[in-house]
Amino acid sequence: MFGRIKPLDAILATAKKKSLHPTLGWFQLTLFGIGCVIGTGIFVLTAAGAQKAGPGLLLAFAIAGVICIVAALCYAEIAAMIPVAGSAYTYTYATMGEFLAWTVGWALILEYAVAASAVSVGWSGYFSGTILDKTLGIHLPDFLKTAPLALGGAPGGFINLPAVVIALLVTWLLMIGTRESARVNAVLVLVKVTALTAFIALTYTSPQFDMQQFNPFLPAGVFGGFGTGVGAVGAAATIFFAYVGFDAVSTAAEETKNPQRNVPIGLIGSLLFCTVFYMLVAGGAVATIGGQPIMGPGGIPFPAGSEELARQCALPEYKEMLVCSNEALAHVLRQIGFGTVGNFMGYAAFIALPSVILILLFGQTRIFFVMSRDGLLPEGLSKIHPKWKTPYVVTALTGGAVAFAAAFLPVGKLADIANAGTLYAFMMVAIAVMILRKTAAGVERKFKTPMLWLIGPATIAGCVFLFFNLPMEAMLVLPAWGAVGVVIYFAYSFRASHLGKGVVEVVEPEAYEDVPGTT
Ligand code: ALA
Repeated sequence: MFGRIKPLDAILATAKKKSLHPTLGWFQLTLFGIGCVIGTGIFVLTAAGAQKAGPGLLLAFAIAGVICIVAALCYAEIAAMIPVAGSAYTYTYATMGEFLAWTVGWALILEYAVAASAVSVGWSGYFSGTILDKTLGIHLPDFLKTAPLALGGAPGGFINLPAVVIALLVTWLLMIGTRESARVNAVLVLVKVTALTAFIALTYTSPQFDMQQFNPFLPAGVFGGFGTGVGAVGAAATIFFAYVGFDAVSTAAEETKNPQRNVPIGLIGSLLFCTVFYMLVAGGAVATIGGQPIMGPGGIPFPAGSEELARQCALPEYKEMLVCSNEALAHVLRQIGFGTVGNFMGYAAFIALPSVILILLFGQTRIFFVMSRDGLLPEGLSKIHPKWKTPYVVTALTGGAVAFAAAFLPVGKLADIANAGTLYAFMMVAIAVMILRKTAAGVERKFKTPMLWLIGPATIAGCVFLFFNLPMEAMLVLPAWGAVGVVIYFAYSFRASHLGKGVVEVVEPEAYEDVPGTT
């Protein structure tokens, strides 16, 4: 199974057949990246990040940003070299063999599907708070808008209905063939960036802005302790989620004019832009309403998304704290006297977050599609609908699972689980790039990672480092999920594999051919 390596030539031949016209410049690429990246991470997880690190959240954004930038540089080389669907899964298939490729594909479910659940839950917070409560005056009962307390929701919580509805709605849009156009993306980027800029302007000029709020800067230290998920690096492991999605930029390499120059500009440009913005936003939130965590026994912050924290947050003295808010940014603005702008912040999240769900869900179905075309998953999954021209079976199944997870789990937990899978995939990509430099030295690369022998190991180290700073349960999900994957592989995929049967043709999913930059 390790010897079942997909021949690079076959993959490259397919990529050639596809040959898209290079039309994207660095600006479109950057815009595309920002569109995929800004979402629940900054709009919602700022609260969870503050609970883990306090004002040290700023440091967390910087750490996660730097690790994503080195990972992005690795992604760019391999994406420009093997520009076919399936990204990390395909790269691993071509370098480390079928079994590891399977584990990567399996881990990518955590990246895309669980992340889609997380963004759905993030959206739900703004929908219930800003749209229903503040705008329409409808108060959705707790049992319909949050996960159960035992799973880290809130007292009285049972199901997160708005999250289920948005996940299913986006699934339906994807099934009938909806794709986000570049124009819609540009408008949504403008909406998000305007909202965040307004946030920065209002918080930094607010009379409540007080540098004393940064004191103590690291209430939970830099390292909060193995498995606790707290401290600045614990927060970095969670807030990493805010950057997930940039891999979409690297997969657009083939459609980029002068990729050697424009892909790194697009990747690093969008990531740097987001890092700076995120740090400014986090700084504004902390400096105005404060960002200290609620401490538990032993001076360790209560875990974000835990039952204990949910109980504390239900108390009147803690209710208004940043760390307790489901719509962190809107909440900050309301607290400093900008109720109306706070609502606009909520509208921005309401409008823009579904597009992030769409991109993630789309990425997931595309990966399943490629895996089933390879025979590793049942072929029935990749059935294309005669009218909609979409793989409706796999889309419906994925959407159902995404909605289910969104119904019963809080956003912080979902984000941590998604991060575990993403970090694994990023690490494998870095390894794949280095292997290919040796085994396929002669193959043309439209972009070469600068100083690969430094950047590659740095990416691996960064991913491992963040992984081991996740909370214990998120760390354990990866091997547990992996074990299920291994069982399925040996029970089904190993025998059904096309490559195992000697078929090496690589088929590109027709239904997706003209969609730029989606993994
Ligand atoms: N980075 C994306 C977000 O924050 C997934 O929502």
